[in-house]
Amino acid sequence: MLKGRKYPNTRLRRLRQNSNIIDLVSENKLTSSDLIQPIFLKENLKGQELIESMPDIYRYDDECALKEIENIINSGINTIAVFPIIDPSKKDKAGKEAVNKNNYISNSIKKIKNNFPEITLIADIALDPYTDHGHDGIVINQEVENDETIKILSDQSLLLAQAGADILAPSDMMDGRIGSIRNTLEKEGFKNTIIMSYAAKYNSKFYGPFRDAIQSSSNLGNASKASYQMNSSNIDEALHEVALDINEGADIVMIKPAMPYLDVIHLIKDNFKIPTFAYQVSGEFSMLKLAIEQGWLDKDVMLESLICIKRAGADAILTYAAKDVSKEINNK
Ligand code: PBG
Repeated sequence: MLKGRKYPNTRLRRLRQNSNIIDLVSENKLTSSDLIQPIFLKENLKGQELIESMPDIYRYDDECALKEIENIINSGINTIAVFPIIDPSKKDKAGKEAVNKNNYISNSIKKIKNNFPEITLIADIALDPYTDHGHDGIVINQEVENDETIKILSDQSLLLAQAGADILAPSDMMDGRIGSIRNTLEKEGFKNTIIMSYAAKYNSKFYGPFRDAIQSSSNLGNASKASYQMNSSNIDEALHEVALDINEGADIVMIKPAMPYLDVIHLIKDNFKIPTFAYQVSGEFSMLKLAIEQGWLDKDVMLESLICIKRAGADAILTYAAKDVSKEINNK
């Protein structure tokens, strides 16, 4: 394609003369509609509290959450992903509170959708906020039991769809859960509920600050999620996971973490050509944000990291920096 092109007829620096020209030929642009803001909601909290391992990120009570969601909307973001922190007294081995009809997160979702009907709300499907051992599924004979777990996840999905979630995001990595959730939704009349599967979710140490945020790290202790989340060495397996989830009824697939897994994002988008999202997870965010706060990195690394994730093939990105980056790109 580029055969015969040579200097000086070709000078690539002609198109880098000034920022207008650079923008004119830019191949990828990040906009507010590419960004999704995760937000932490804590049961029985008054006000808001800082998450120590996530600079500038808070847990909110419902009232503060509504104010924060208004700020998020004003920054130009239309989509949020909510994560609950559950009262420790309600955690048990089976994560029963997850399917309790009037549980905290379903009430919060109702409140948010009443106040902001226009916002697109993503609800996480998994049991880790609710289990006293911190696993995403129920544990029977020391094993995370797949088939019993997906029944509960299907009930949890129905509950959160009924509460008003627009998108359900199973983050548990059990086999067959997308099909089971999709069947339940179809049967119960939730034809338009979107499923965004965490299709290629790796067993990553980059989730550490998130587990602090939802206060499940002490429950999980030294236990590992390696029996359900993917091995970081694998990429063929990611294609296999995604193919299954699409066949089972996923509308959107997601890869996480994002920045250390750009090859996975690229390959999945290239192979399946369906909506492909990426999650810049808590550890990725905290590394960058802390270095920015210390003055060791320029604040523009955040935007750069997100453009690179988009360039790799992500159609949208979940990132804790969504609101701030959105403000920045809209003020330019
Ligand atoms: C758990 C869940 C995790 C994240 C989203 N949902 C953590 C885990 O699997 O332990 C990670 C998000 C992040 O690190 O920002 N179901």
